[in-house]
Amino acid sequence: MSYRVTLIPGDGIGPEITAATVRCLAATGVRFDWEIFEAGSEFVNRTGRPDPLPGELLDAISRNHLALKGPLTTPIGTGFRSVNVALRQALDLFACVRPCKNYPGIPSRYQNIDIVIFRENTEDLYAGIEFQSGTEAFGEINGLVAGYNHRWLRHNSAVGIKPISEFSSRRIVRFAFDYAERLRRRKVSIIHKAEVMRLSDGLFLEAARQVARDYPEVQYSDLPIDNICDQLVREPEYFDILVLSNLFGDIISDLCAGLIGGLGVAPGANIGTRAVVFEPTHGSAPDIAGQDKANPTAQILCGVMLLRHLGEIAAGDRLENALKAVLQAGIHLTADIHPEKAKAVGTAAFADAVMAALF
Ligand code: NAI
Repeated sequence: MSYRVTLIPGDGIGPEITAATVRCLAATGVRFDWEIFEAGSEFVNRTGRPDPLPGELLDAISRNHLALKGPLTTPIGTGFRSVNVALRQALDLFACVRPCKNYPGIPSRYQNIDIVIFRENTEDLYAGIEFQSGTEAFGEINGLVAGYNHRWLRHNSAVGIKPISEFSSRRIVRFAFDYAERLRRRKVSIIHKAEVMRLSDGLFLEAARQVARDYPEVQYSDLPIDNICDQLVREPEYFDILVLSNLFGDIISDLCAGLIGGLGVAPGANIGTRAVVFEPTHGSAPDIAGQDKANPTAQILCGVMLLRHLGEIAAGDRLENALKAVLQAGIHLTADIHPEKAKAVGTAAFADAVMAALF
C-alpha cells in the first residue's frame, strides 16, 4: 500500500530540501505516491499561467487530504498576494502548529526548550484585507472611521483590517487545549495585546479564557506579546504551549526557531478539518537557493510529522532518531549549523547521512 500525498516543491531552496526529504521518507520503507504540483510567483513568471495557486492544486490537496510543501516566495511590494496565506485560507487550514525543541548537536544559546506554537492561520492583519492610499475605497473607509471614531486618518495612508472572530479564536484555543490534554502537556499560554487592541485582541483573550474553563487539568496563563518577548529571551524553558493570533504567531515562530538553533531546524503543519499541509517555518532562502547549501532538517522533520500523522509511528521515530544521530555526530552538517563552516556538507550529502543512519 502507498499513501497518495500532494507534493509542492516550492521556490528557492524548496526543490532541494523537498527532494532530500522525499529520499529520506522512501528510505524508511513507507511507500508514497507523490502527486507533484507547482505554484507561486516563480511558477507564474516561468509559465505565464495567470494563477499562482492553481485550482487543480487545491483540488488535489482536498482529494488527498495531505500535502508536503516547500516554501514559496512572496515578492515584496508587487501587489502579489502571498500564496502561502491564500492556500491556508482556501483550505481553511486554521491551525499552524510549530514544535520548537532542542536537538542534540545543534548549537543554541539555550537548552531544555520544548515549546509548541499554535498560530491562528486565517484571520488578523494577515487576512490580506488592505486598502491602498489615494483610492476611492480608502476615502470611504476614512469617512466611516471619522463617523464612528471622530478622527480622520492622514490622507496618504494605506489601511489594513484586523478581523478577529469569536469562532476562530475559540477554535484555535480549543485545538491547542485538546492537543495539551492528548499529549499530557502541562501548560497553555495565550498571547495577546488586549490592553491596546481592546476589541480585537480583547475578543481573542475573552474567548480563550472561556475555553480554558473546560480544561481544568491544564495550567492556563495569558500574557501580552511584549511581555513574552522579554521572557522568551530570558527563560524560554519555562514555556510549553503558546497560542497566538496570526501576526504574533508568525513573529514568535521565527523567534522560537532562533532559540533552538535557527530557521533550518523548525518544522510545521497547517491543519484544517479537511486537509493537513506540512511545511517548514522558514522561507525560500533565495540567498542560498540552488547551491546545495540549505539545511533540510526542518523539511525532513515535516516528513516525520507526516509519518506520525499517517499512523506510521515506528517509521516516524526511526527517521527522527536517524536525524538526531547525524546531528549529534556533528560531521555531516550544513553550513548554518556546522561549527566549522569550511567542513560543512551540502543538502544532498546531509540527506545521504540521515538515510545511512536509518536502521
Ligand atoms: P527565509 O526564511 O527564507 O530566510 C531567512 C534567513 O534564513 C536567510 O539568511 C536564509 O538563508 C536562512 N535560511 C532559511 N531557511 C534555511 C535553511 N533551510 N537552511 C539554511 N539557511 C536557511 O526568510 P526571508 O528571506 O525573509 O524570505 C524569503 C522568501 O520566503 C520571501 O519571499 C518570503 O515571503 C518567503 N517565505 C515563505 C514562507 C512559506 O512558504 N511558508 C515562510 C516565510 C517566508
